[in-house]
Amino acid sequence: MSETFTKGMARNIYFGGSVFFFLIFLALTYHTEQTFPERSNEALLTESVERGKLVWEQNNCIGCHTLLGEGAYFAPELGNVYKRRGGEAGFKPFLHAWMKMQPLGVSGRRAMPQFKLSDQEVDDIAEFLKWTSNINTNGWPPNKEG
Ligand code: HEC
Repeated sequence: MSETFTKGMARNIYFGGSVFFFLIFLALTYHTEQTFPERSNEALLTESVERGKLVWEQNNCIGCHTLLGEGAYFAPELGNVYKRRGGEAGFKPFLHAWMKMQPLGVSGRRAMPQFKLSDQEVDDIAEFLKWTSNINTNGWPPNKEG
C-alpha cells in the first residue's frame, strides 16, 4: 500500500464526499416533503377553514398579529390562540365575545379595532385558527404569545 497521499486520492475524497452528502440532503428533503400532508392537516381543510382564511386576509389581521411567527409584532401570536383560549369547548365563545368587545378602551393598553364581522365570519375565523393550531411546526414559535 502506498504511503503517499496523492492528488487523485484527495480528489476522490472531495468528489465522493460531495456526492455522498448531496444524496443525504436529497433523502432528507424527500422525507420532509412526504410528511407535509400529515403535519399540515390537509385532510382537515374544510370549506369553513378556507372562508376563515379569506376573512383573515381581507381584514389584515396579520397587520398587527403574527401567525406561526410570521406577521407584525404589535399584537399576540394567534397560531396557538385556539389552544391558549379554551380549545374545543371554549374557543368559539371566547372569539365571539372578544370580537364584539373591541376596542376595549383601556388606557395605556394596545387596542384592537372593531371589525363588525358577522357571526358566520367569526365562526369561520375560529375554524381557521383551530386548523392553524393543529399544524405540527416543531414547536415554532418558541414564545407562546409571540
Ligand atoms: C390594529 C391592530 C390589530 C388588528 C388589525 C387585529 N388585531 Fe387582534 N389584537 C390586537 C391587540 C393590540 C390585541 C391585544 C389586546 C389586549 O390584550 O387587550 C389583540 C388581541 C387579539 C386576540 C386575543 C389574543 C389573546 O392572546 O388572547 C384575538 C383572538 C385577536 N386579536 C383576533 C384578531 C383577528 C381575528 C383579527 C382580524 C380580523 C385581528 N385580531 C386584527 C390588535 C389587532
